[in-house]
Amino acid sequence: MKFKYEVEGGNFAKAGNASSEVKKIMKQLNVPPPIIKRLVVALYEGEVNVVAHAWNGSIYLEIEPDRINVKIKDNGPGIPDIEQAMQEGFSTASQAVREMGFGAGMGLPNMKKNADQLDITSEIGIGTIVELVIFLNGEK
Ligand SMILES: Nc1ncnc2c1ncn2[C@@H]1O[C@H](COP(=O)(O)OP(=O)(O)O)[C@@H](O)[C@H]1O
Ligand SMILES: [Mg+2]
Repeated sequence: MKFKYEVEGGNFAKAGNASSEVKKIMKQLNVPPPIIKRLVVALYEGEVNVVAHAWNGSIYLEIEPDRINVKIKDNGPGIPDIEQAMQEGFSTASQAVREMGFGAGMGLPNMKKNADQLDITSEIGIGTIVELVIFLNGEK
């Protein structure tokens, strides 16, 4: 089963909409709640990162018998130093974004914690691709 969602950069009012949709679908498919929780937390952080840091993006979700694959691909500024971006508390979010309650610098570390696999590739001035995998046998 495959799903695709579009994400608008800068639109904080809609941030989390795709993650909520995915949560509904997972419940309908009777995916175990702890797995849904990990997926939705990781996906939500990825979705918010597109809203906060990129221009627009797409989320591709694929459900396989033993795993859920998520790919978040954006058009955006890219991440110059991925290792630095992965550090807890590191954030380039603007003051305005922080005032809306985002930009704690915990998104990528949380994605790492919740996903079984996380892979980030980025090209400066082009965009970022975040791929994450969650195994349905509950590896974590
Ligand atoms: N999709 C993205 N495009 C560009 N930069 C990003 C993206 N995702 C994350 N980043 C960079 O990595 C940093 C850390 O991300 P994260 O841990 O989610 O913290 P936060 O979003 O709270 O700043 C961001 O501040 C930003 O500099
Ligand atoms: Mg973030």
